[in-house]
Amino acid sequence: MISLTFLTADGTRIDTEARPGVSLMEAARNASVPGILAECGGACSCSTCHVYVEPGFAGLLPPASEGELDLLDFVCEPDPERSRLSCQITLTEALSGLTVTVPERQG
Ligand code: FES
Repeated sequence: MISLTFLTADGTRIDTEARPGVSLMEAARNASVPGILAECGGACSCSTCHVYVEPGFAGLLPPASEGELDLLDFVCEPDPERSRLSCQITLTEALSGLTVTVPERQG
């Protein structure tokens, strides 16, 4: 299992685990993390699964696709260094310990 930590906008820390192969968005929804709306269900067309990846983990993630980068242009308060769409991150054992922050608003 892969250990994950979600930090919500109100400062709550949610520690959870997920199986390899699921997306970070699915792991968040399985753990009932508030603020991950994921309106398109992971089809990379809504950007409501935006998260900020904590420093130190960004280099472990696969690069964002062109489609993901296009959507990240439209999120609230994007951070070029840390913003990712959680539905586009497939979890692997190498990502165990991954910590992400959920933005205050999606859309
Ligand atoms: S769930 Fe819609 S872009 Fe990620």
